[in-house]
Amino acid sequence: MCGIVGAVSNRNIVDILVEGLQRLEYRGYDSCGLAVVGEPQGLQRSRTTERVQDLKLNTSPFFGLRGIAHTRWATHGKPNTDNAHPHFSGDLIGVVHNGIIENFEILRAELQQKGYVFTSQTDTEVIAHLIYDVYSKMSNRDLTEAVRESLPRLHGAYAIAVMASDLPDRLVGARVGSPLVVAYGDQENFLASDALAVANHAQKMTYLEEGDIVTLTKDQVEVINLQGQIVQRQVKDVPELAASIELGPYQHFMQKEIFEQPFAIANTVGDIESIAPSIFGATSAEWLEIKDVLILACGTSYYSACVAKYWIEGIAGVRTQVEIASEYRYRSSVPNPAALVVVVSQSGETADTLAALRHAQSLGHTKTLAICNVATSAMMRETQWKFQTKAGTEIGVASTKAFTTQLVGLYFLALTMAKKEKKLSIQQEKIEIDRLRHLPVALNAVLALEPQVIAWSEQFAKFKNAIFLGRGMHYPIALEGALKLKEISYIHAEAYPAGELKHGPLALIDQEMPVVTVAPNDELLEKLKSNMQEVQARSGQLYVFADVDANIQSSEGIHVIRLPENYGNLSPILHVVPLQLLAYHTALRLGTDVDKPRNLAKSVTVE
Ligand code: M6R
Repeated sequence: MCGIVGAVSNRNIVDILVEGLQRLEYRGYDSCGLAVVGEPQGLQRSRTTERVQDLKLNTSPFFGLRGIAHTRWATHGKPNTDNAHPHFSGDLIGVVHNGIIENFEILRAELQQKGYVFTSQTDTEVIAHLIYDVYSKMSNRDLTEAVRESLPRLHGAYAIAVMASDLPDRLVGARVGSPLVVAYGDQENFLASDALAVANHAQKMTYLEEGDIVTLTKDQVEVINLQGQIVQRQVKDVPELAASIELGPYQHFMQKEIFEQPFAIANTVGDIESIAPSIFGATSAEWLEIKDVLILACGTSYYSACVAKYWIEGIAGVRTQVEIASEYRYRSSVPNPAALVVVVSQSGETADTLAALRHAQSLGHTKTLAICNVATSAMMRETQWKFQTKAGTEIGVASTKAFTTQLVGLYFLALTMAKKEKKLSIQQEKIEIDRLRHLPVALNAVLALEPQVIAWSEQFAKFKNAIFLGRGMHYPIALEGALKLKEISYIHAEAYPAGELKHGPLALIDQEMPVVTVAPNDELLEKLKSNMQEVQARSGQLYVFADVDANIQSSEGIHVIRLPENYGNLSPILHVVPLQLLAYHTALRLGTDVDKPRNLAKSVTVE
C-alpha cells in the first residue's frame, strides 16, 4: 500500500505535495513525510506519525521546486518517525516507495558490509542506498540509469520516486507491480500512486506500465523500459474526481457514504431496461459459452460475492464458486476454462484480487469480468468484460456504498445467467427491473431507522464482543455486519450461520454477549426463530433486525427494529444498511477515527 507523490515545477511545490498526501491517505496513514531539494540547503525533509496536517513545514525555509512525499501503511518496521518516508542515502538520494522489497534482508546485509548505515527497519532504505551505490560511482551521473541498473536487484512488487540533490531539475519514478501515474501540468509534472493526488493541478495523465522508468523535468517526461529503450504510453484525461471528496454536511465520510446509497444504487442501475450480456460488454454468443462462475475477492467485496453465490445458483441454477483471492492465488486449483472468472473490488487495485485474476488467466481462464467501482483501475483494464458500479469515490475505509452497488452488479449477473439458462421469463424480467428501480426508495425507508439504531449503539458501545447471526443469503450480511463493527469500533465481533450456533459458539452466550440477528421473512425464518430461542434460553441478548412481516416481537431479552419492506431476493441490500449504521454510531460513541481506523488502509495494494 502507501501513497507516493512527486512534483517538479517552477514554483514551490510543498503545498501541492501536502494536498496530494491528503488525497492519498486512503492508501495508508500510519505516518507520512515530505522531502524537497532546497537551494542551498540540499535535501530537507519533514516526517510525522501524526496526520498530514501535522507535518512541520514551517521551519525555515521549507521550500523547493521539486520534491517527493509519502503516506505510509507500515509493512516493514513500526509506524514511527524513523521508518517514515522519504528515506535518504547520505545527503544525495531521497526515495519514497509503495510496495514490498522481498529480498531486502539480503540487500541490507550486503549494503551494511559496504559500510552503509541504516537508520530505519524498512525495506525502503535499501532502495535509497542501492541507488546511491550505483549513482555516486558514475563518472557522468545519470539518475535514470542508476535507477534502471538498480531495479533488477529489487525483487517484489513496488513503485518508487527518487530524487538526487545534485540534479536540480528532475525526478525519476519506476513501476514494478504497483500503480504509478504521471500527470502533466502547466510547466510542471507529477508522479503519483493515483491521479487523485494531483487532479487539481493536471488535466492529462499516463498510467505507467510494468517495468516503466520515467524521468520528469518541469517541461518534459520520458518513459523507458527496463532495457533502456524509449517507449510511448497513452495520454488520457485526468478523471473528474475532485468534487466527490468533499464531506459536505456530514461528520464523517462513512456516514455520508451510507446515506449516499440510494443515489449510488440508482446510478448503478442506470438506464438498464432489459437483461442482456451487453450489460457487461459481452455478446450473446460469448455468454452462451459460460458454464460455471468463479468469483474472487477480498474483505467486504468477498462478502458481496458470497451473497451472489446464493443468487446465481438459486435464480440461474449455474454452479458458482467463491474464493478468497489471497487463498486462491496460492493453492492448486483445477481450472475450468468454461467458467466465468469474476473479480469484485471497490478499488480494482487490491493486490490479492489482482494477483488471483492473473493467476486464473495463467491457468487458461479467458472469460473474465470485473465488477468494480474505479473505471480506470488495473482490474478493469485487465479483464475481458466489465461492470462499473457507480458508487462514486468511496473515502471511508469501511466500505458501504461500494458493497451495496457491487450487490446490484452481481444481481444483474445472476439475472443475465438466468436468462441464458431460460429461467427468467419476460414478465419476471420486468418485475426484477422494477424492483431494482424501486430499491432507492426502499433504502431511504431503511435509512429512516437511524434514530432507533442510535439508541442501540449506546448499549453496544459498552460491549466488548458481539455475535452476528444470519441464514442463507443473509449469512454473508451477518459477516459484513461483524466486519463493519470490528473494523471501526474495535469491538470483537464474529458472524455465524445461525444453524451453526449449537455446534460451538453457543458456549459464548451470556448477558454480556449481544447477538445481532438478521431476520428477513424468508423460507428460513422459522429455523432462525428456533436458533433465537436457543440464545434466549441461555439469557443471551438478541438485537434483531426483522422484516416488518416476520412477526417477531420485542420481549425480555429480545430487542427488535423492523425493516419497513420485505424485499425478497434483494433483501440483503436493505438488511446490511442498519448494520452499517450500528457500526458507525457505536464507533462514534467510542470516539474512534471512523474514516481511518487504526492499522487499516482503504486500498490494499500489498499482499
Ligand atoms: O478495493 P477492494 O474492494 O478490493 O477491497 C477489498 C477489501 O480490502 C475491503 O473490502 C475491506 O475489507 C474494507 N475495508 C471493508 O470495509
